[in-house]
Amino acid sequence: MLELKDLVFSVDEKDGENGGQKIEIIKGIDYSFEKGKFYAVTGPNGSGKTTLARLIMGINKETSGSIIFEGEDITGLSITERAKLGISYSFQHPARFKGITFRDLLAIAGETDDEEKLLSIVRRMGICPLSFLDKPVDSTLSGGEIKKIELATTIARNPKLAIYDEPDTGIDLWTIMPMVNLLKNEQEENGTTTIVVSHNKSFFEVADTILILNGGAIIYEGDMEGALPMLADFRICNFIPCERGEMDARCFR
Ligand SMILES: Nc1ncnc2c1ncn2[C@@H]1O[C@H](COP(=O)(O)OP(=O)(O)OP(=O)(O)O)[C@@H](O)[C@H]1O
Ligand SMILES: [Mg+2]
Repeated sequence: MLELKDLVFSVDEKDGENGGQKIEIIKGIDYSFEKGKFYAVTGPNGSGKTTLARLIMGINKETSGSIIFEGEDITGLSITERAKLGISYSFQHPARFKGITFRDLLAIAGETDDEEKLLSIVRRMGICPLSFLDKPVDSTLSGGEIKKIELATTIARNPKLAIYDEPDTGIDLWTIMPMVNLLKNEQEENGTTTIVVSHNKSFFEVADTILILNGGAIIYEGDMEGALPMLADFRICNFIPCERGEMDARCFR
């Protein structure tokens, strides 16, 4: 349902010994996501997970390669056009808006102002609907509260492809399992193709496929049994595949 073809994202390095050269953040990823499956994407900090998610949503513009969604080449499409096709992205660091309430956001996302529908989405999130719905989505919200609101607005859109970037960051212990179950239910009951970027094992347990990203490349695709030993391997670092071709003690300082 989603095909990435030789997807590259590079930036100009401005300073340092390589100043003026291109750095590849995403290094020619080829991958096909299957319809209705649940994917957990993990990997070290800085390995390119958010960049990949943003490329799929169209927030970042790829340097080369293409993205095919349900048979259509969406590489040149804007964020809004991709959203209309049914792709939704939940930000790692959600934006805050002065003068907008959670109710406004949900109503836009779900294209409804039906009180009962809005309340039911909020309840599913483990958020107290009555105290939350009219809260302003501004700097007064806590880190966990804004993440829950971000997730609820993504679900309200009923996307075909939902991408959640570290949905559990800052979320309290009592909400993490209900959140995992909620995303799993959305996938199973609505057939939502789900990509969750996370470091949390609870998401790996419900995923059909785990992808490990490192140094801008997919270095593992498979189940949790195979993923865990790789994740525990201290030799995984941001520089693999290492351009020098070998590692030494300096890599681990
Ligand atoms: N526009 C950009 N210009 C320069 N560097 C960038 C740009 N976008 C991303 N990077 C760099 O690319 C690397 C990958 O960033 P990315 O945010 O995708 O990592 P991540 O895997 O999501 O990490 P985390 O687990 O910390 O969220 C980082 O080193 C980041 O600084
Ligand atoms: Mg990230």
